[in-house]
Amino acid sequence: MSPDTVPSPKKPDPNSLAHSIPPGFVIGTATAAAQIEGASTAAGRSVWDDLSAQPGRIIDGSDTSVTCDHYSRYAEDVALMSTLGADAYRFSFAWPRLQPGGSGALDPAGIDFYDRMLDELAEHAISPFATLYHWDTPAELEVGWLDRDTALRFGEFAGLVGERFADRVDAWITLNEPATVTLNGYALGIHAPGETLLFDALPTVHHQLLGHGLAAQALRAASVPGRIGITNVHSPVHAATDSPEDAAMAQLFDIVHNRVFADPVLLGSYPDVPDELAPLFGALGGADSRDLDTICQPLDFYGLNYYMPTRVAAGAGTGASPDGTAEAMTGLPFHLVDIDEYPRTGFGWPIAPKHLGTALAEMRDRYGAALPPVYITENGASFADEVAPNGTINDPERIAYLDAHLRAALDAVAPGGAADGVDLRGYFAWSLLDNWEWAAGFTQRFGLVHVDFDTLERTPKASFEWLRQVLAARQR
Ligand code: FCB
Repeated sequence: MSPDTVPSPKKPDPNSLAHSIPPGFVIGTATAAAQIEGASTAAGRSVWDDLSAQPGRIIDGSDTSVTCDHYSRYAEDVALMSTLGADAYRFSFAWPRLQPGGSGALDPAGIDFYDRMLDELAEHAISPFATLYHWDTPAELEVGWLDRDTALRFGEFAGLVGERFADRVDAWITLNEPATVTLNGYALGIHAPGETLLFDALPTVHHQLLGHGLAAQALRAASVPGRIGITNVHSPVHAATDSPEDAAMAQLFDIVHNRVFADPVLLGSYPDVPDELAPLFGALGGADSRDLDTICQPLDFYGLNYYMPTRVAAGAGTGASPDGTAEAMTGLPFHLVDIDEYPRTGFGWPIAPKHLGTALAEMRDRYGAALPPVYITENGASFADEVAPNGTINDPERIAYLDAHLRAALDAVAPGGAADGVDLRGYFAWSLLDNWEWAAGFTQRFGLVHVDFDTLERTPKASFEWLRQVLAARQR
């Protein structure tokens, strides 16, 4: 089956996928603290706790206080990962839980929680991949990433966490998707901290990347044996038409979504910007070259999140979208165009697995020998899953999605594939559990495991059982 075929109702064969997974390839699930832990009041506040307390910010009026209550139920959740047969678990350390206020010593209760969770993973032989920043900036850091000092605070936090958990974490991810933080959090105002600065948000690019570099240095100074990397979200971008206007705006979007976050980390420089677009990037123009040396740290791996491609047209848009992105973008000189030839997820995102291969090929073509081994650190889809009267949850679209994307990635990096030469080491499904999907609240279910948000009961979906069969049938 070509990866872009519309998912057929027939369940993809787990054995057939299992046989294309090379020995040693890591497969796991991913989550983030603010989306699953709850117990947010037991620790310092994050910008997401504050944003979700504001009326109208979260689509269903929900907040971070309970979410999946993973804080109390972590043992049950790790047991689910073990039943799944997952090799690894990507989670995030909550900065405000470990270091309320974003400065000073680590909090003993926060340390205790992650110690217990890591013990549980060790007991089940699941390899921990820890993200140090998955968007939950301590609320006290006022303007957050607009302030260069936040990069220094984050570097210090990374050093403390590195020292404390050095021997317990196999892979460290400094930042998760700084692009989403800049674009959704500071440019468009739909994520925390809710700023609508458009191109004036660009200093948050530089400060986050500086935070990444300082964190990588601090982890190395703490002599962590685990590998060190970063996670960026990548979306292959193309123009809606052949017009030069659309082409220029597609290039602009590629720069602000992909290149501005990957080039400095891997190449030590910001991407070249065509003269006519240069005024938009004024806020990055004065970047200190010493900062770029800090940002461009040697990395052991590169984390790539992939959800969808993007189609861009010139001119302001008028559209509407479930997460408010289209509305917030009306002040920009370009807009995103629906990609109608693909089926869509519950979020309305196009299901286009071939473009995961394109994203990997772009990484190889752009970064060559500077690209370290790659993990797909997130990939998955929300659907309007329904609980059948007998309590089961049949989610054939998610099975087809995961099958097609993992196949597309493996095909792309195989000899002669579109991304031949990329050293792809693993894949993390987003997500283990249905969880709190940021501004979309509880309206988008991405889990392999269904969560009843009233009772917090966990029920593995059909996709969980399918992935369990894939993992069990692999060659070792
Ligand atoms: C990614 C985020 C993750 C989740 C998925 C659906 O951008 O990193 O936390 O929200 O999207």
